[in-house]
Amino acid sequence: MDQQTEQLNSAQEAMYEGKAKRVYRTEDAGVYRVAYKDDATAFNGQKRGTIVGKGVVNNQMSNLFFQLLETKGVHTHFVKELSERETLVRALTMLPIEVVVRNLAAGSMASRLDLEEGMKLAHPIVEFYYKRDDLGDPLVTTDHIEALGLATPSDITQVKQMALRVNEVLSDVLRTVDVILVDFKLEFGKTDEGEILLADEISPDTCRYWDANTNEKLDKDRFRRDLGGVENAYAEMMRRVREVASL
Ligand code: TMP
Repeated sequence: MDQQTEQLNSAQEAMYEGKAKRVYRTEDAGVYRVAYKDDATAFNGQKRGTIVGKGVVNNQMSNLFFQLLETKGVHTHFVKELSERETLVRALTMLPIEVVVRNLAAGSMASRLDLEEGMKLAHPIVEFYYKRDDLGDPLVTTDHIEALGLATPSDITQVKQMALRVNEVLSDVLRTVDVILVDFKLEFGKTDEGEILLADEISPDTCRYWDANTNEKLDKDRFRRDLGGVENAYAEMMRRVREVASL
């Protein structure tokens, strides 16, 4: 963290601290400042570690993707990148759900249904998880979400459409730099006016990226599964996403 960032952060208490980010209020009630950390956790916080430089990669990669998505009609919380690790975003009321899109079977879906990782799915799948650390973020159906009042039917329809659009846009651009977008997780929030925006981050922490030629994993699975070369994988993905951004 540069000195200026350090001073800013120590002067102000975070409004919210998550596993990978801190969120601060700003003078503008409609805008928050997000600071990305190098802390890494997996399995609902049971495994802990540090991925050196991760905060910088996740901040910059998320911001490049958010800006690209804006040009493709997906509205996001992105306002302005402040520094390597810090970004201004719109203040939102977050929906308490994680939205996962899958193109290939992997991770929890492969385990749950006893599928080989990498099996192609006939079409992209959208899954919803209830954000509850104490329950380990359980898989829920849209009926659960509606019946529990976690989101309205219209919210769910919009979120699903946006998630599939994100999948199209990111799958297409990543293919140009020899990356397969296997699956990813998104989070959404609502403005005071009721508009749903894509929020949180899109990074190697929240996506599975496989090299298209070797199937090498270029994401957080290297940390989750103790595969080594975690920092190099994050740096390599950042290099490829920058290549896309400069096209
Ligand atoms: P899963 O296969 O473990 O359910 O993960 C699906 C996708 O969601 C994968 O790209 C990693 C991402 N993910 C998160 O961003 N946060 C999480 O807490 C989990 C479990 C997965």
